[in-house]
Amino acid sequence: MKVFAGSASKPLAQKVAHAIAKELSQIELHIFPDGEKRVRVVDKVIDEDCVVVQSTSTNADKNYMELFFIVDALKRSGAKKITAVIPYLGYQRQDHVFRDGEAVSLEVIIKMLEALGVNKVITFDLHSIKIPEFFKIPVVHLSALPLFAEKIKKIDSGTDYFLVSPDMGGTRRIKILSEILNNMPYATIEKDRDLKSGKIEVSEIHGNVGKVAFVVDDMISTGNTIVAAAELLNKNGVKRIVVFATHPVFSGNAAKTLQESSVEKVFVTDTIAIPKEKQFKKLEVLSVAEMIAKNLKTQMSNVKSAS
Ligand code: R5P
Repeated sequence: MKVFAGSASKPLAQKVAHAIAKELSQIELHIFPDGEKRVRVVDKVIDEDCVVVQSTSTNADKNYMELFFIVDALKRSGAKKITAVIPYLGYQRQDHVFRDGEAVSLEVIIKMLEALGVNKVITFDLHSIKIPEFFKIPVVHLSALPLFAEKIKKIDSGTDYFLVSPDMGGTRRIKILSEILNNMPYATIEKDRDLKSGKIEVSEIHGNVGKVAFVVDDMISTGNTIVAAAELLNKNGVKRIVVFATHPVFSGNAAKTLQESSVEKVFVTDTIAIPKEKQFKKLEVLSVAEMIAKNLKTQMSNVKSAS
């Protein structure tokens, strides 16, 4: 097996390669003055099982194009199988038509990946559990929830604690986490987002409310959902708020917004590499590398036993 890193995911790809006892394989990436890219696979990949790790958050278009070119280069160079590890699957939020006249961006991405010859996708905490069904190729949908559960167990939170989903869409996620944590009580917040302006309104909390809240979401983009949830929780007597989100999309002023909010700590994962200027004091990053490596190890041993 050979592991390649797209430029959006070098540190994670390095950790994954290390965890399966491999060195990262080499890619040359040349960017022309107008921004176009030339990709070249340096290592020999004939009949190899190849893995490309490339997250597709900001800038999603740029990162996707690079991934497409790497896959094409591998295919042309004779790779036998290509696994695209896309820890954050960009455009997943546009998985259907919300209003007449919209494009289904995710479907376009899926068509591209399949047409280029990707054989398998590994990804994390998709916005909707239906997304893997849109692919014709196998999709391994992993979750950071077990990592979050381990962390929550270690936080000294007294006895009056609960899990919170900041929107109704996260109810399934929060129920799974509650089960992992021996039926920890949970609550769900009612959130509305104006599709045109993006403005968020939270109205009500359904479920058990305690003093310490573990807010769990799939991603943080602007941070507005978390801040709105935190304000509502504080109004309802919550004293401490610890946030867990798989994907640190962190657009705009998210870092400042979160640092200045009433939340005590923000745990995210390395599905998206966070640039220095978007890191902040309350932030802690947990790694998903071992989970990816575990799946790849199984893939390697399946290939061995089949040959
Ligand atoms: C939306 O339904 C997602 O689960 C997240 O809550 C949302 O994408 C977060 O976005 P933002 O940080 O911009 O409020």
